[in-house]
Amino acid sequence: MDQAIVDLIKLAVGDEGYSIGKARTYAYGFDASIYHSTPDMVVQPRSTEEVAAVMRIANEHLIPVTARGGGTGLCGSAVPIKGGIVMDMSRMNSVKDISVGDLLCVVEPGVVYDDLNRALAPYGFFFPPTPGSGEACQIGGMVALNASGMRAIKYGATRDYVLGMTFVKADGEIVQAGTRTLKDSSGYQLARMMVASEGTLGIITEVILKIAPKPKASAMALAAFPGPEQAGEFVAALIAEPLIPSSLELMDSVSIDAVNRAMGGPLPECKALCMVEVDGDPLTVDKELAVVEEVARRCAATTVETTHDRTRMASWSKSRQAVMTSLSSLRPGSSSVSLADDMVLPVSKIPLAVKAYQQIADRNGVTVATYGHAADGNLHTKMLIDPLSEEQWKAAERTVREIFQATIELGGSVSGEHGVGMSKAADFKIERSSALSTMIAIKKAMDPNNILNPGKLQQWEGEGVIGPLRYPCDPDGSQ
Ligand code: LAC
Ligand code: ZN
Repeated sequence: MDQAIVDLIKLAVGDEGYSIGKARTYAYGFDASIYHSTPDMVVQPRSTEEVAAVMRIANEHLIPVTARGGGTGLCGSAVPIKGGIVMDMSRMNSVKDISVGDLLCVVEPGVVYDDLNRALAPYGFFFPPTPGSGEACQIGGMVALNASGMRAIKYGATRDYVLGMTFVKADGEIVQAGTRTLKDSSGYQLARMMVASEGTLGIITEVILKIAPKPKASAMALAAFPGPEQAGEFVAALIAEPLIPSSLELMDSVSIDAVNRAMGGPLPECKALCMVEVDGDPLTVDKELAVVEEVARRCAATTVETTHDRTRMASWSKSRQAVMTSLSSLRPGSSSVSLADDMVLPVSKIPLAVKAYQQIADRNGVTVATYGHAADGNLHTKMLIDPLSEEQWKAAERTVREIFQATIELGGSVSGEHGVGMSKAADFKIERSSALSTMIAIKKAMDPNNILNPGKLQQWEGEGVIGPLRYPCDPDGSQ
């Protein structure tokens, strides 16, 4: 990067606020996805004004800027594929206000999800989306991807909590969007538009979030099924009852085996299971738990265990959260890779989707684990491949594209909670074909020089999922 530009950035953020060192820029080329690309500079602003100053410089000199939170994203949204600046928001990490009477809090984007909930706990409130990466992911990234997780079925995703925000446009203009009220009908919902925009429309520097009261009690059930289809039928039957659990996680046999091997067998040996949590006042919790058990048995569950014990519930949840990391230890030489990792479908289509994904995996000779937040229609599939084998990447790519195609045919979407980034962009463009020209026009209006996270979402130039991989391997021969 030109020394004159480095000097300007230094003036804007101070000595501590930027780095062009090789080790640091290399490290900031990763997120938790399969991709890597080294930026020219890392900038760590401390205020909205500093972000605005950096954006003015970047816009004038046409330098790409990719915003980054905790780096826990799984589809490459924070990987700077066109180089330039990675803007790490982690130093803007204060909870600026908690106003429980107004049912909201005001936070900077670098606040970690679990830290926010620790700050809200003494008031008896919480911010519910519960992403799997809650220990490390940051609120700015959650908003930028509309992240969610285990509790979205009952409590919604991040978008359902965003009341307002401050963001900085590509040219450095500071915009206050939305309100500090629980509702507003005053014009374009710009704060909503920023949700899931993956840093392509502006840099989020403050968020006004709605909060929810913590439930008084909770309980869990663990039901084993003869196969994933019966587990899928249970999910749709429970919702249709009607009963909205606070979470309902489905795991297939590959996921169960992986966790049992990695963690010493905490889960029942079976072909599929559902882990259900209900919450609310104690009497309702007991009634709902009985309904969960009854519906599970009606849907051919072979065993159903229930518990109110906090330690046992925490251990079950931990086993579910361990799926992703456990998969990589299932077979020596293979790693689990995030490709088609968070499809979302109408809940009634879950049994068909689970069956279709398994058939696609078998046809392509790839081991696929299917699990996830089935009650809101969100399924994770992880592929187990040798990431140094070009052949296996090609098989994985075929598998993932067929999974996306099946999902779209069933009325679903390629991403329910992780975002599009690069790994889903090709199929996102197919899925959203009728909205693409509108998205392109919005991007042009907000960022005419195309400096904000260029090359992602509708700008993805790849034919499929293969891009700048983090592995020393080049399946499409482009590097
Ligand atoms: C999970 C992450 C992968 O639910 O979203 O484990
Ligand atoms: Zn998830």
